[in-house]
Amino acid sequence: MLVLGIESTCDETGISIVRDGKQILSNIVSSQIDLHREFGGVVPELACRRHIDVIIPILDEALKQAGITLNQIDLFAVAHGPGLIGALLIGLNTAKVLALAQNKPFIGVNHIEAHLYAVLMSYPDPISFPCLGVVLSGGHTALILMHDIGHYELIGQTVDDAIGEAFDKVAKILGLPYPGGPQIEALALQGNPKRYLFKGGQVKGRPFDFSFSGLKTAVLYTLKGQNANQNFASEVNPADLAASFQQTAFEDVIYKTLLAANQSRIQTILFGGGVTNNRRLKELFEIADKQKIYKWPSVGLSLDNAAMIAGLGYQHYLKRGKGDGLDLEPLTRISF
Ligand code: KG4
Ligand code: ZN
Repeated sequence: MLVLGIESTCDETGISIVRDGKQILSNIVSSQIDLHREFGGVVPELACRRHIDVIIPILDEALKQAGITLNQIDLFAVAHGPGLIGALLIGLNTAKVLALAQNKPFIGVNHIEAHLYAVLMSYPDPISFPCLGVVLSGGHTALILMHDIGHYELIGQTVDDAIGEAFDKVAKILGLPYPGGPQIEALALQGNPKRYLFKGGQVKGRPFDFSFSGLKTAVLYTLKGQNANQNFASEVNPADLAASFQQTAFEDVIYKTLLAANQSRIQTILFGGGVTNNRRLKELFEIADKQKIYKWPSVGLSLDNAAMIAGLGYQHYLKRGKGDGLDLEPLTRISF
């Protein structure tokens, strides 16, 4: 079965063609990093305009690279949330129009769930359930108990900033370009992670929830004092600050993830989202618990992409035996 997937939830436009939920024939992603860099974060209006500009050229490219014509596609899959409303509408309407014109089914999938499906696509052999899913991206931070594809329990999530967003904001505070994650990782390599003692954010009565905004503010105050307009305090070392921030954020994620896995007697942990590109995160998990089995998305499937949307769309279509109606709405928030 050939599935064409569409991703447009935030600042990446993606179209991919995937056979039988796993074999990627093409996976085209147009990133908008250049567009949003000068603003230090995603500007929704600009993101939508860019999605409109590139979505059809990317569609042509994806078909060409896969050596497929549109009438060979069996199913159109799209991420219909969570994300920016205008951005979602562009991908969703594109998928609906293509399905209608080709008289083929169409299905909407959850972008966060797709980040975890990306891991299942990354390994040749099937991964057995149950697993613990950990989503660490620019828009989301969540711990999800995965009983099977489509059968989940949300254990914890962020109550404010997502972890990737915290990396981006701390990078901005340090004067580093967007997106900040790779910049912080590189700077932290030269720093001492024990130089500044920050605390991970705790949410009262909810041991698996995350809060990163306090940590980000602690970095700001360390750098500039309580008066955020002040210039860099000269004695502050930016590399130590980046390393200490990164260490604190990751120790928090690792502690809560392993606690959740141990409580649920789960051995296999799946990771999704852009922050999983960070090598230090992988090292720290290995140091914290060598017995667990860690599964990471492959290159090209960690950041936002449409292959994971096509793959997950295929799985849901198989289970349900039918697609969604053309009245499917975009959802800026989706709960599990
Ligand atoms: O998964 P993704 O494309 O975004 C959403 O779905 O929201 O991930 C983008 C995020 C950005 O916040 C970026 O700074 C972060 O992933 N990121 C990293 C690294 N590479 C990307 N964070 C930490 N370390 C990295 N190496
Ligand atoms: Zn994402």
